Amino acid sequence: MIQEDLERIKSETRERLSKALSPDEINEIRVAVLGKKGQLTQILKGMKSVAPEDRPKVGQMVNETRAKIEEALASSQAQISKKLQDERLAAETIDVTLPARKMERGHLHPNTVALKEIEDIFIGMGYEVVDGPEIEKDYYNFEALNIPADHPAKDEQDTFYINGDMLLRTQTSGVQIHEMERGRIPIRMIAPGRVYRADEVDATHSPVFHQVEGLTVDKGITFADLKGTLAEFAKGIFGEDTRVRFRPHHFPFTEPSAEMDVSCFKCGGKGCSFCKGEGWIEILGCGMVHPHVLEMSGIDPEVYSGFAFGIGLERIALLKYEIDDMRLLYENDIRFLKQF
Ligand code: DAH
Repeated sequence: MIQEDLERIKSETRERLSKALSPDEINEIRVAVLGKKGQLTQILKGMKSVAPEDRPKVGQMVNETRAKIEEALASSQAQISKKLQDERLAAETIDVTLPARKMERGHLHPNTVALKEIEDIFIGMGYEVVDGPEIEKDYYNFEALNIPADHPAKDEQDTFYINGDMLLRTQTSGVQIHEMERGRIPIRMIAPGRVYRADEVDATHSPVFHQVEGLTVDKGITFADLKGTLAEFAKGIFGEDTRVRFRPHHFPFTEPSAEMDVSCFKCGGKGCSFCKGEGWIEILGCGMVHPHVLEMSGIDPEVYSGFAFGIGLERIALLKYEIDDMRLLYENDIRFLKQF
C-alpha cells in the first residue's frame, strides 16, 4: 500500500516538475511534497500503523523516495535557471559590429585659448589672477585712474552709463584700484574680464570685448622691470625669437606711458602684408603707475612704485590665429569654432 503511494507521489511530482516554468513553481511543489503538511510527510506520519517488523523496510523506502524527489527538484531548478539565463542573454545581445554613435567633442573658444596662455605665462612669473566688477562706479573706472571729469572717454557716446554714478566698465584698469585698496603689498596681479564701450560692430570693434589688466607694485619697481616682464610675455605668446619695442604714449594713470610692439612673427621684422610692411605689431599699453594714482589708493609713492599694462584679449587671439574679422569671435558659427 505505502509502496504504491510512494510510487504515485514520485511520478506525480515528476509530472508536475516537467510542467513547472519558474523557480517559484518549483518551490511550491517542494512545499506540497516535502513541506510540513506535504504528501511525503503525511506518509511518514502514517508509519505508526505499520507493523514494527516492517518499519525499517518502509522507512528505507520513504527515504529513497525522498532522495529521488530532492534530486528531481534540484535538476528541474537547474534547468529552469539555465533556461531563464539563456533567455536573458539572448534578449541582451549586443551587435558589436554596429557602427558607434559619433561623439561630438567641444572646442575651446580662441579667446579662451589665448587667455589660458596669457594666464599661464604670468602665473609662471608669480602673478595672481584676480576678478573685478563689470558694473562699476565712475570713481573706479575714471576718477581714481586720474581721468579728469572732462575727459572725452567719459562722453556718453563711449560709455554705457547705468545712472549718473554707475556704469559698465570701459576698461579693466579699475581692478588695479580695488587691488591697491586692499592694501596687500607687494602686488602682482592680472585681471582678465569683459569691458563695454558704445561702439558700432565692425571688423575691429565690438561693444563688448575683453582685456587683461596687469599690475605690479612693490619697493623699487622700475621701467626695467616692466620691460623685462612684458618682453617675457611676448616671447611666451609669439615665440622665443620675438623682440619688443616701446613707443612713448599717453595714459592718464601711468607716467611715463608706452605702447609695446612685437616684431612681426610672420616675417620676423622685415615687413610683410601681415604687419602692413611695418615689421612691428602693436599689442598693448603700459606704463609706470602714476604717483597720484598710488596716493589716491592709499599707497605712499615715496616708498612704493609700480607698473601696469592692459592687453586686448581679442587682439592677441586674432593675431595668434590670423583671424581678420573680430565678428567671427562672437558669432559662434560652429564651422569657425571647430577649428580651435
Ligand atoms: N586701460 C587702457 C585702455 O583701455 C589700457 C591700458 C593702458 C591699461 C596702459 C594699463 C596701462 O594698465 O598701464 O586702453
